Amino acid sequence: MKTNVCCSFDSARALDIARGETPAPRSDFPALAQRVHDHPLVYLDNAATSQRPQSVVRAECEYYGSCNANVHRALHFLAGEATERYEAARRRVAEFIGAPDPREVIFTSGTTAGVNLVAAGWGRKFLQPGDALLLTEMEHHSNLVPWQRVARERGAELRFIPVTPDGALDLGAARRLLADGRVKLVALTWISNVLGTENPVSEIAALAHAAGALVFLDGAQGVPHRRTRVGELDCDFLAFSGHKALAPTGTGILWGRAALLEAMDPFLSGGDMIERVTLTEATWAELPHKFEAGTPHIAGVIALGAAVAYLERIGFDAITEHEAALNRRLNERLAEIPGLRVFGGAAPRIALVSFDVEGLHPHDLAQFLDSRGVAIRAGHLCAQPLLRKLGVNAVNRISPYIYNTAEEIDRAVAAVIEARKWFRL
Ligand SMILES: Cc1ncc(COP(=O)(O)O)c(C=O)c1O
Repeated sequence: MKTNVCCSFDSARALDIARGETPAPRSDFPALAQRVHDHPLVYLDNAATSQRPQSVVRAECEYYGSCNANVHRALHFLAGEATERYEAARRRVAEFIGAPDPREVIFTSGTTAGVNLVAAGWGRKFLQPGDALLLTEMEHHSNLVPWQRVARERGAELRFIPVTPDGALDLGAARRLLADGRVKLVALTWISNVLGTENPVSEIAALAHAAGALVFLDGAQGVPHRRTRVGELDCDFLAFSGHKALAPTGTGILWGRAALLEAMDPFLSGGDMIERVTLTEATWAELPHKFEAGTPHIAGVIALGAAVAYLERIGFDAITEHEAALNRRLNERLAEIPGLRVFGGAAPRIALVSFDVEGLHPHDLAQFLDSRGVAIRAGHLCAQPLLRKLGVNAVNRISPYIYNTAEEIDRAVAAVIEARKWFRL
């Protein structure tokens, strides 16, 4: 397979995709080569979690095999080596997202942990009764429930930017909801895990900042698919999960502007996050350690550095083009299926389609596809309020990534067509 790094989508590029080329060599992902229920695996559940390339698995194993020790603590050789690799991953991730200072990168267990850290560390300290938080109707539960809790605790109001029928955010409503100056923070997803819509983050950030509000960006579905520059996004906080971007589970980061992080309270407390402790009091360590209490997922963080390196090697131009081509093919093919309804559709978007098929429960369809080796997601996608607005309890979701081929899209669609026949629709 050829690595493709061309920069504009054209017919020659479409031909490459039709030939089965992918930006990421499939041989880097041994898990993709297996057979499931006697069929070659077609893995199309990447919005839930991606597969890992061998370089990432190797980086994790190498830590255990060569420099297994705790970080930032001991004075011996292995601890020094482990700390250097851990901090090198921080510098690499900082570069990857365009963070001006690696101290602003806090390692977490994922997006959920990042949201909770800010909801508790910033929200509990700075939200006052009568303040408001502005979210959107398309948030994943992870970027909703922690804000619900802190709003209740602090007597703050929750407001929501509505989702339009084509799956975009209503910016006129956003302006109106910000107008009274009571919104202290806007928390939104970069890309919807249900609709695939890429939100106009910098435009919303400009509105928020003009109204005196901070911006928290949920990058769980954005960072794996788009080149990330926190400066261009103009957000104040960004959280993402490593496992959706080729890295191990249980890894992720919270990025925040240094001045904000310094003003916030720590979320978890204990070892490694202190400067001085007496029996009755403690003071906090400098950034980033103030927010990294306890022993972190050292091997995972080092492997997150390897994942980021892998994505940079492929390049986001190639990733975006490949996904655009797969998305076009997926939508064209799904449109051929009677009774199939796609949710959303607004552009720009990533290659992610949620749909249902009249007369077929999403769980039945997903199970049928599994019997043909095709892995897709079914359920409420951790976005119950959005699904309620769409008028459904569950959907199916197909979400390709950098190693999926056009042929795999065709196989998934063929399996949906076969399911309709099997269920006599
Ligand atoms: C948009 C979005 N936000 C947050 C999350 C939560 O990510 P994690 O479970 O890795 O913390 C997800 C996971 O699916 C997501 O899609």
